[in-house]
Amino acid sequence: MSTESNSLVSRRGLLRTGAGLLLATALPPLPARAAGASEYRIVAAPARARLAGDSRPETDVWAYDGTIPGSLVRLRQGEKARLVVENRLGQETTVHWHGIRLPNAMDGVPGLTQPPIRPGGSFVYEFTPPDAGTFWYHPHANSLEQLGRGLAGPVIVEEREPVAVDRDLLWFLADWRLTEDVGIASGFGNRMEAAMSGRVGNTVTLNGRVSEAEAVRAGERIRLRLVNGSLARIMALRFEGHRPVIVAIDGQPCDPHEPEGGRILLGPAMRVDVMLDMQGEPGRRYGVVDDFYDGLSYRLTRLAYDGRPPIREHPLDAPLELPRNPLPESDLAASERHDLTLQGGMMSGMGGMQGGGMMHGTMGMGSSPVWAINGMSMTGDGHAGMEPALTFQRGRSIMLVLRNETAWWHPMHFHGHSLRVLSRNGKPVPHRQWQDTVLMAPKDVVEVAFVADNPGDWMLHCHVMDHQMTGLMTVLRVA
Ligand code: C2O
Ligand code: CU
Ligand code: CU
Repeated sequence: MSTESNSLVSRRGLLRTGAGLLLATALPPLPARAAGASEYRIVAAPARARLAGDSRPETDVWAYDGTIPGSLVRLRQGEKARLVVENRLGQETTVHWHGIRLPNAMDGVPGLTQPPIRPGGSFVYEFTPPDAGTFWYHPHANSLEQLGRGLAGPVIVEEREPVAVDRDLLWFLADWRLTEDVGIASGFGNRMEAAMSGRVGNTVTLNGRVSEAEAVRAGERIRLRLVNGSLARIMALRFEGHRPVIVAIDGQPCDPHEPEGGRILLGPAMRVDVMLDMQGEPGRRYGVVDDFYDGLSYRLTRLAYDGRPPIREHPLDAPLELPRNPLPESDLAASERHDLTLQGGMMSGMGGMQGGGMMHGTMGMGSSPVWAINGMSMTGDGHAGMEPALTFQRGRSIMLVLRNETAWWHPMHFHGHSLRVLSRNGKPVPHRQWQDTVLMAPKDVVEVAFVADNPGDWMLHCHVMDHQMTGLMTVLRVA
């Protein structure tokens, strides 16, 4: 499989420096793009996809525009986008533009920010993305099943000036629980799983396919955009024989740095952009391994060098750093401080469920909650009448102290804002990192800061979908 068909390749990111080393000329098809520059029509509907390789049968999925992942939405920083979403599913849906700072009415949370899109109906999303970077879109209705059956797609917001790399690739990673005959296993919403690590599957795809190898060329510099579109699977990627440099997290540029221990941690919904100088040997293959879960490591793919000589002698000497986005810096001295404590789940050090405040759930009982934030459980995907846990005056600097009192990992996601990650377990977090999804290990305490500059009711929830659905969710209001 050539990289051109298997990866989402940008031609705008091509090198301006050097000897005009264009590696290919064909543009990938952009089927969803309509007439205008940033206009898309996206149809959510049942489809079939060959997830597990050419020799295995197709899988019945739900998809955007009939492909897994859904069509690449390519927008431009500071330019208005218009996205018409059509629902041809047998149930209500919405689309959430994960990580994009947009007006509340465009945020895609049913009941809270918009009425759900009924089967046969459509909704027009319009916004102007302020930040360049790597984002994604997914439903925010019946999320566990809709995302688990395939509804998800990447969004790239292009920088105003192209970044100097040879190729700009995107790996949309997703985890599936497939049956023997390659169908999607039923049993969404298992209570036992919901109280533990969530619905972790058995098959990981790269751009909609189990990947044997991805073609690369010696000497090239690749900007690789990694998206974890899984329901619950956390990933820790290791690039054998290579030294990826992280240049952005959750779409937001950070100081370029190598990942700790050479492992790129990607919780569900997280994105990491890395710069990869392909310094391997022509003709060789190098594994890309995910070893997050003890004893369950597997090879995601291999970097397969073709036999041609390196395109340049030394790594490209263009800067690695991406231009920063216009994020509001909060005034730490004047900021309001609030605690958000995550509670519940199995084995919370109490031999079972940890009860907190309004939590009164027990396993296996209907829709009773399993998790809580500050003793309060909001379940589902969003609905009308969710009372905010906290209300912030518009323009205030806010510091949140996120405390994970549970025995499980949680990628905690906040809508409508990016969070400056200040410290983890008392230690300052380096590299000026901003995130919209903060992965928390058991017992972690993380301090984040932001300016409450975007009015509306915004969700804050765990992005392990089973956790969100069973109570690890709240609403914060900017008034
Ligand atoms: Cu990506 Cu509320 O979610
Ligand atoms: Cu989001
Ligand atoms: Cu969680």
